[in-house]
Amino acid sequence: MYNKLMKCLASVRERTNFKPDVALILGSGLGDFANEIDITDTIDYTDIEGFPISTVKGHAGRFVFGYVEKTPVVIMQGRVHYYEGYQMADVVLPTRLMGMMGAKKILLTNAAGGCNPKFKPGDLMMITDHITTAVPSPLIGANIEELGTRFPDMSEVYSKRLQEVIKTCAQKCGVVLQEGVYVQFTGPNYETPAEIKMAQSWGGDAVGMSTACEAMAARHMGIEVCGISCITNMAAGISKVELNHKEVQETADRISKLFKQLVSTIVVSM
Ligand code: HPA
Repeated sequence: MYNKLMKCLASVRERTNFKPDVALILGSGLGDFANEIDITDTIDYTDIEGFPISTVKGHAGRFVFGYVEKTPVVIMQGRVHYYEGYQMADVVLPTRLMGMMGAKKILLTNAAGGCNPKFKPGDLMMITDHITTAVPSPLIGANIEELGTRFPDMSEVYSKRLQEVIKTCAQKCGVVLQEGVYVQFTGPNYETPAEIKMAQSWGGDAVGMSTACEAMAARHMGIEVCGISCITNMAAGISKVELNHKEVQETADRISKLFKQLVSTIVVSM
């Protein structure tokens, strides 16, 4: 895996020498944030040998390099998910690669289902912690010593410092910010009502199909992590209507202007 990462890095370095400080992964509805920054370079994922490519419609796949004000950022416009059939180690390859490009901090974003009954669709939730019990760890397999230790600590995956930054930025942007624990499931199916009850009993506030594995891989290599979920729907059983991708996208699109404003404020304050 480390060799594969080094090959991907060489492939990136053939095209750009850009050194990002902040890495950003854009979830559903946020993709066009990348088009609004001061872009210096872009690299299509298909131009990086060995790179996992998303098969989901609307998940355009490329790295965008550039500046948000003075902050050098690398943005993943589109991510891969475990449900597409990749090994977890491949799912987090792009995250690791951004760390190897030089990113010291990462902001993860996603669309998620709300399982905290106090939430409503359109809410933004700062991730305070996560539960990945329902998916394999991306760190399974030979440890990559060059990146981090075999048994990494996960007692503060989401940086307390960055959580304070996010809260301050939310206030500045006039965003009412929820906070809570993100539970990752495999997808691609939405959860059953019984699974959502389980997630609630575990202490989960939101459920989704990404992010926690990326957060874990980033922590493993010492990157400072933070994350925000857009609650696009209430999770199965709480919502009395059937869940569908269209509803998820519609809510994500409805909130995207505010979300983008918040993300941009956070990136320059990280
Ligand atoms: N469950 C899992 N992932 C999701 C959901 C959900 O309800 N909504 C958006 N992503």
